[in-house]
Amino acid sequence: MTQKAWDGRFSEQTDQMVEAFTSSIAVDRRLYRHDIEGSIAHCRMLARSGIISKEDAEQLVTGLDQIRDEIANDQFVFDDRLEDIHMHVESRLHDIVGNVARKLHTARSRNDQVALDARLYLREETRHIIHQLHTLRKTFVDLAQANIGNVMPGYTHMQRAQPVLVSHHLMAYYEMFTRDGDRFRDALPRIDVMPLGCAALAGTTYPIDRDDTAAQLGFAEVSANSMDAVADRDFMLEFLSAASICMVHFSRLSEELVLWASTEFGFIELPDAFSTGSSIMPQKKNPDVPELIRGKTGRVFGDLVALLTTMKALPMAYNRDMQEDKRALFSTVDTLRACIAVMTKMLPRVTFKKDVMRHATTTGFLNATDMADYLVGKGIPFREAHAVVGRAVAYALDHGKELDQLTLEEMRTFSDEIDATLFEALTVEQVVNRRTSKGGTATENVKSAISLAGARLAAERLP
Ligand code: ARG
Repeated sequence: MTQKAWDGRFSEQTDQMVEAFTSSIAVDRRLYRHDIEGSIAHCRMLARSGIISKEDAEQLVTGLDQIRDEIANDQFVFDDRLEDIHMHVESRLHDIVGNVARKLHTARSRNDQVALDARLYLREETRHIIHQLHTLRKTFVDLAQANIGNVMPGYTHMQRAQPVLVSHHLMAYYEMFTRDGDRFRDALPRIDVMPLGCAALAGTTYPIDRDDTAAQLGFAEVSANSMDAVADRDFMLEFLSAASICMVHFSRLSEELVLWASTEFGFIELPDAFSTGSSIMPQKKNPDVPELIRGKTGRVFGDLVALLTTMKALPMAYNRDMQEDKRALFSTVDTLRACIAVMTKMLPRVTFKKDVMRHATTTGFLNATDMADYLVGKGIPFREAHAVVGRAVAYALDHGKELDQLTLEEMRTFSDEIDATLFEALTVEQVVNRRTSKGGTATENVKSAISLAGARLAAERLP
C-alpha cells in the first residue's frame, strides 16, 4: 500500500519533489522501536476499551512485532513516498494483516503519535546519559583519589595564582558533571508525560483510556491539555539546554587538556591510543580527541538554537515545522553520548606529570597571598600587608628570586614583624593545606570531598 493515507480528498498525485522535500523517513526511521511500542500499547487499549475487537488487536500486535523484527534485521524497504516512520509501519502492517491494519489509527493522529515516539525515545536516552555521567563522575573521583598530594598551579586570568591540589582541580569537574546529571534528572519528569490520545489537537470522540496506554508504556503522567500535548517541544528544549551546558563543561575540560598536553605546559601526557599524528610533521602527537569534543560543542549549541528558533513563532497547535525537531535532537544525543564515552575512556589513561606540575608552583610568587596572611597574623591589617608583600615581590623580581629565596634579613627590611617562621608558611604544602575553609583546597578538605562524592555516587539510585 503506497497509496497516501489522505488521498481521498486529492485530485492529483503529490509532486515527486514535494514527496522528497516533505519526507522525514531518513531521520525518523530510528524511532521505529518506539513507534511500534506505542502502537502496540494503543491497540491493546483500544481492545480493552471495546473500540476494536480482541481478535483484531491480536492480529495487529502480531503484525507490528513482525515489522519490528524486519526493521531490526534490515529486511524492510523504506520509501520517500511514505513520508515518515508512522506511515511506513502502517503501510507494511496492511501488507501483512490486510484491511484490519486500517483500524490501528483509530482515536489517534500522527501529531500525538510523533510526540509519543519522541518522548519514549528521549526518556530512554536521558536515562542512558544519566548513567554515562555517573560513570564519568566516578572516573573523576578515582582520579582525584589517585592524585591526592600532587600539587599544581591554580590559575585566574590564565596567570598562575595559587597552588592547589590536582585532586581539587579534578573534583571541580566532578561538581560540574554532577550538576549536569542533576539537570538531566530534573528534565525527566517533564519528558515522562504521555501525549497519545490527544489526536490531532482536540482529543477524540472514542471512549479511550489514556491511563491504560500510559501504564502500559510506563509513563508517570498523562498530558492534561490536548492542544499543548501536540504543540509542546519544551521537553526537547530542556534536554538540549542541559546538553549544551554539559558540553560547555566538556569543552572547558578539553581546552585544559589541550593546553596541559602542550610542550609549554607539559603537565600531562595523553595516551597514544587517544592521540593522532601529523601527515607531514613526523614528531607530532596531536590531542585530537579533546579538540574534537571542544569542536562538537558548537554543533550542540547549534541544535539548541535551531529548535528554539523553529518553535518561537509557531501558533498552536501542531505545525509541520516541528518535524525539524528530530534532526537537532538526534544529533545532540549522538554527540553528547559519544563525548561522554570517549572522555570517560580516555581520562584514566592520562599521565599526570606530577613533578612538572609541582615545579610549576615554585615560580611566579604563588605564595604571595600567604605572606600577606602571615603578616595579618602578626596584627597588620590586610591592605597594609598586601602593600608590604607587593614591595617584597618587586624586590624579589629585581633580584631574580622567588619570595622563599629571600634571606630573613632581606625579608625584615619590609617589616619588623617577620621572623623565621615566615618561610614555613611559604612552602607549597603549607600554602595548600592551610586553605581549610569549606570548599578550599587543603588536603583534609579534598579528602573529605572525595569520600562524600564516593558515598553519593554509591547511594545514587539511577533512573
Ligand atoms: N513526520 C511528522 C513529524 O515528524 C509526523 C507528524 C505529521 N503530522 C502531520 N499532520 N503531517 O512531525
